[in-house]
Parts: sequence; C-alpha cells; structure tokens
Amino acid sequence: MVLRGRRIVLGVTGGIAAYKAVEVCRRLVDAGAHVSPVLTDGAQRFVGAATFSALASEPVQTSLWDEVSPIPHTRLGQNADLIVVAPATAKVISDLRTGRSHDLLTATLLATRAPVVLCPAMHTEMWEHPAVQENLEVLASRGVHIVPPEEGRLAGGDVGAGRLADPATIVAAVERVLGPNDLAGQKVLITAGGTREAIDTVRVLTNRSSGKQGYALAAEAAHRGAQVTLVTTVDRPVPPGVATVVEVASTADMQEAVVPVAAEHDVIVMAAAVADFRPAKAADRKIKKADGLSSIDLEPTHDFLVDLGVAKPSGQVLVGFAAETDDVLDNAQDKLCRKELDLIVANDVSAPGAGFEHDTNAVVIIGPDGVVQTVELTGKRQVARAVFDAVVALQQRPTS
Ligand code: CTP
Repeated sequence: MVLRGRRIVLGVTGGIAAYKAVEVCRRLVDAGAHVSPVLTDGAQRFVGAATFSALASEPVQTSLWDEVSPIPHTRLGQNADLIVVAPATAKVISDLRTGRSHDLLTATLLATRAPVVLCPAMHTEMWEHPAVQENLEVLASRGVHIVPPEEGRLAGGDVGAGRLADPATIVAAVERVLGPNDLAGQKVLITAGGTREAIDTVRVLTNRSSGKQGYALAAEAAHRGAQVTLVTTVDRPVPPGVATVVEVASTADMQEAVVPVAAEHDVIVMAAAVADFRPAKAADRKIKKADGLSSIDLEPTHDFLVDLGVAKPSGQVLVGFAAETDDVLDNAQDKLCRKELDLIVANDVSAPGAGFEHDTNAVVIIGPDGVVQTVELTGKRQVARAVFDAVVALQQRPTS
C-alpha cells in the first residue's frame, strides 16, 4: 500500500553488493512502486544493466548523454518520490556531501527535493574511516536517511561491518521514509502563520504565531502522499513535496486565497492564527509621530472558517485550531459546534513549551463525539502526525 504508485529512483553504485540491489529492485516493483534504475559505470562492472531493465518499471539509465531527453537528471530528480542508493560507495557518499555532480546518479541526487536513502556498503576499514563517518554525519544532518551496513562476510573473504543491509531492511526503510501514503490522491489545504492587519503603510497589528505548526502539518500531509496547498503569512523553507504555496498577509487576503478553492479540497486545516480585529481604516501613508495617535479604531474581521463550515461539501474534513488561554476544552468544543467543524485542535497557548513560536506543542484533538486524542508536549511534527491520524480515522469511519 505504502509503495503503490510511488516513483522511486534506485541508484546502484560500484560495489560487490550491487548484485543485491537486484533483489531490492524486485521487491520494490512487487510492492507496486514505479522503479527507475540508474547505474553508475562502476555498478556496471559488477552487475549487468539488462538484469535491472528486465525487472524494473523502466529501462536502466546510465548516462547524462545517452537519452532522448537532454536533461534526464532533472526529469528523474523532480519526478521521484524517493531516491534510494544501494549500495552506496564511499565515493557517492563523498560526492553527495560536497555537491559534486559528475554522472547521471550524482546529478540526479542534486536535482531532487525528494527524500534520499543511502545504503552504504564497503570494507570495514573504509566504513570506519573518519572521513566516511563525517560525510555521513553531515548528510544525516541535512535530512538524508542512512541505512547502516551490517556485520558479515565481505568481498575477498573478510568479515566485519560494511555488508549492505538486507534487501528487506532497505525496503522497510524506504516504506518508513515515504510514510503511510494514506492521503494519496487527496488535496489538502493548510493555513499557517498569524495574519497582519495594516495600521498604515508600514505598521501592522499581528500576533505571535510563527507558522511552525502549519508548516509541520504541510510537511506531514505531503509525506502522506497528499497534494498540499499551503496558504501562509510567513516566509519559511517550503517543506519537501508541498505542491503550492500562496503567500498572504491579512485576514481578507487569506480568505480570498482559501474560500474560492475550498470546495475542491478533501481536507482543510485552518492552523493560521487569524486576527479577530483589524484597524477600521488603514492610513495610506506612514502616520508621523508628530500627527499623534492616541487610539486605533478596530472592526471585526470576517470569520471565514464559519463560511467554510456552512458550505462544506460532503466528505470534506474541516479542521480548526483553537488557541486558548482559559477553559481550553470548553472553548474549543464550543468552536467545533459553532463553526461546524469535523475536528478541532485545542491549544493551550499559555502552557510552557506549547503554542506560538515554540518548536514543541501540546494539544487536545476533539471530534464531534468528544476528545479523540490528547497529545502531550512533543515536536510540532508529531502533533501534525496525530492530527492527520485523526483525519484519516474520520475518513475511514464507516458511514451510517
Ligand atoms: N478563524 C478564521 N477567521 C477568523 C478567525 C478565526 O478562519 N476571522 C479560524 C482560525 O484559523 C482557527 C479557528 O477559526 O482555525 C479558531 O480561531 P480562534 O481565534 O481560536 O477563535 P475565534 O473564533 O476567533 O474565537 P476567540 O477569539 O473568541 O477565541
């Protein structure tokens, strides 16, 4: 299920373990993945391209130059849901660390935003060399996934650490990195950040929302196979796999970006901290100190989550966030009913380590029948995981 329809580039580099990559290829294809093998020159000294071409979903590619497309690496890199390199030699590890592109595989590894899984295999001395270990540490810190080698028989009769991980272990790692794929084919819209309401041309009224929770939700939804649109007020790195980013500032901008496209989405998560009030009239120039300003007249913004609740198409899951400091659960439950939501994520923003600006959060996810899950203080990505677990559980609930 996880691998069905996922586009995987299988990179094979020149090590004796290249023959085991044949088994990795077969298992990935059997599990429903679309596998594009890329062999380096070194790999072809150990195993024939014909073997992979016979087993994979498309013929082996070996060169930047022998294809119909003049830019095969960008096509492969951009289309891939994941790239797994098995075996990964010390050379390809070093090339990826330093950004060196000299053949189709290294170019593809640089031309992708998809997750990369490296499965090193080499002699024990090489594996334990500080240069190799340091390269892997750097790559891991950049988010590359490493499947460490096992102890066992190596080429030339030696025994030690450095043997390519078992094909089943590699496929399991690929599945784990790809995520459950339970939002595959779904369109998910997420709002993030605090809206900014103009006082004049240089000043705004806003709140402390950093957008971190919204971005974590977007990352998680993309990880689970969704086509994600992120409507955001903040400028943070776009999480891998997020299809569309719409930048907005005010509540009215956000409403304009969300409401017209709401009906075409399967899931909407309104994680943004939307301003409840805005200056009744924004000055069209900078208000000078000398002008004096003793008060700002405010007017309520439009609560467009209420509109989304009223117009919700059947089958759509609508999720709100409730940032509270008092009577957290009662207030959240009230918003769930009032705004006709399917789920609400109650956030005590006064609790230590939770809510605005933190990397961590603690929430209670509430559905129509009451509390679905209490998530104790944890990373915002883990909170995102719990939110989408609850969304998927709702979607999979038998209809009465
Ligand atoms: N929301 C919205 N439009 C607004 C205000 C809020 O779409 N003008 C959405 C938020 O994105 C959030 C949910 O409504 O998902 C709840 O927002 P919150 O500020 O907690 O609740 P309010 O209804 O504004 O109530 P209060 O400020 O009294 O707590």
